[in-house]
Amino acid sequence: MNDTLETIFNRRSIRSFIADRKVEQEKLELIIRAALAAPSAGNAQPWKFYILESLELRQQAVEAAYGQSFIAQAPVTIVVCADLQIAVDAYGYRGESLYAYQDTAAAVQNILLAAKSLGLETCWIGAFEENVVARKILRLPKHLRPVAMIPIGYSNETGKPRPKRPQDEVIEWRS
Ligand SMILES: Cc1cc2nc3c(=O)[nH]c(=O)nc-3n(C[C@H](O)[C@H](O)[C@H](O)COP(=O)(O)O)c2cc1C
Repeated sequence: MNDTLETIFNRRSIRSFIADRKVEQEKLELIIRAALAAPSAGNAQPWKFYILESLELRQQAVEAAYGQSFIAQAPVTIVVCADLQIAVDAYGYRGESLYAYQDTAAAVQNILLAAKSLGLETCWIGAFEENVVARKILRLPKHLRPVAMIPIGYSNETGKPRPKRPQDEVIEWRS
């Protein structure tokens, strides 16, 4: 199996981080580049990324995410936002209702896989009070919708593979 596939198959959602181990700046920059390299409809790139570094901001992220305290253990959290203005300008209703979320999801997955390939762990956080993140923590303009938060850090946990639905339930070959 090649490195890319190994990264895909070994990635897990990890919910415990080594709190005092920083993420190297070069690694963070590579992860950000990976996010920006994601595909997007018409290459519109309807996204914006906020990197939360201070403990104060990370603790606010925990509160917004209903107390998921492991978020603040990680030394950095990336908040991925969909830019609905760019999306609607590019593709109207389909852009703002579908492509904006597909594009940002692709960027999120790139972040998860890039981090894993660099020896880091992550967890995709979708359960959070959107208004708290948008208005209180980040003070975003209305056209930016936070869609995911991703704590990134080193961990002593490797995680167990989560059960996935059987292939015959979700795959249908047609010829
Ligand atoms: C859209 C989305 C939202 C998620 N939100 C959360 C979350 O708020 N908290 C959390 O601990 N995990 C969250 N997860 C992670 C899932 O629980 C996890 O991906 C799933 O259990 C499968 O485990 P695996 O990632 O290790 O394969 C989310 C994943 C996705 C794709």
